[in-house]
Amino acid sequence: MQLLLLLLSLFFPNLLLFIHPSITYAKSIIEPCSSSDSCTSLLSYLLPWDSKLSEIASRFHVNISDIFSANSIDPTLLPSFGNQILPTKSLLKVPISCSCVNGIRQSMSTTYTVQAADNLDSISEGYGRLVSAEQIRSVNGINGKEPLASGESIVVPLPCTCFNNSNHGVTTVYLSYVVERGESLSSIGDEYGTTVMDLMAVNGLGQPVIYPGDILAIPIPACSSANLDWRNEDLIVSNGSYALTGNNCVKCTCGPTHLK
Ligand SMILES: *[C@@H]1O[C@H](CO)[C@@H](O)[C@H](O)[C@H]1NC(C)=O
Ligand SMILES: *[C@@H]1O[C@H](CO)[C@@H](O)[C@H](O)[C@H]1NC(C)=O
Ligand SMILES: *[C@@H]1O[C@H](CO)[C@@H](O)[C@H](O)[C@H]1NC(C)=O
Repeated sequence: MQLLLLLLSLFFPNLLLFIHPSITYAKSIIEPCSSSDSCTSLLSYLLPWDSKLSEIASRFHVNISDIFSANSIDPTLLPSFGNQILPTKSLLKVPISCSCVNGIRQSMSTTYTVQAADNLDSISEGYGRLVSAEQIRSVNGINGKEPLASGESIVVPLPCTCFNNSNHGVTTVYLSYVVERGESLSSIGDEYGTTVMDLMAVNGLGQPVIYPGDILAIPIPACSSANLDWRNEDLIVSNGSYALTGNNCVKCTCGPTHLK
């Protein structure tokens, strides 16, 4: 993986900004890709302010029922469905589809309509720092000197990794996670049931060192149609979530008992 990144950086010098340790940009794993198919990934979204579930769904351009299922929320138990307000600092999983753009796995399908008081930094904050102000600026070719125009629609490039939905032969969904102050690879590993070694390998880290703002890909074991009798070829459901289908399982839940 390190070698691949090194090779890639020869062709795309800007990538060095993300992986060179002496430069202060946050690190983020880059997954080279070649096929045109898309795949599913998760974002870990730490709410920057109190938000309605429906607002979060529209911010990320995802179906609210997919947010319920990714977080194993039973909507019938919510008093007010999408109007439910989640408090600041709630941690929510947001499912997104990753495509292959310019040879790199990424999601470019989320757009954001600029509001009157916005600047690039406040937009980055609104997305829980899953995307930096610099990344938004660069993808949209925004000139730093001109203010954003209210009502303007901009692309929000969100991190995405799939790695073939596999990790050491185990069906896996990858969660893009923004490192918070005070966290280490071992605290994150404990939280998500993985190891420092595995996090280093997945993220191509040469040293077990991370900084606040870095974006890690965390492997989450998943159930798939291949190992459960769901008779739906394409279904991959991460641990602690469910999927709704019109087919065989209807509500396909993945938990510790299914992963054995
Ligand atoms: C969201 O998903 C539900 C269930 O799959 C579907 O009925 C609904 O039409 C979808 N809504 C949108 C806006 O895609
Ligand atoms: C991904 O999976 C496909 C099908 O299982 C396989 O053919 C391909 O070699 C895998 N790619 C990588 C990079 O592991
Ligand atoms: C699956 O998630 C549960 C919590 O929902 C956790 O206790 C369990 O260790 C996880 N299993 C694996 C294999 O990660």
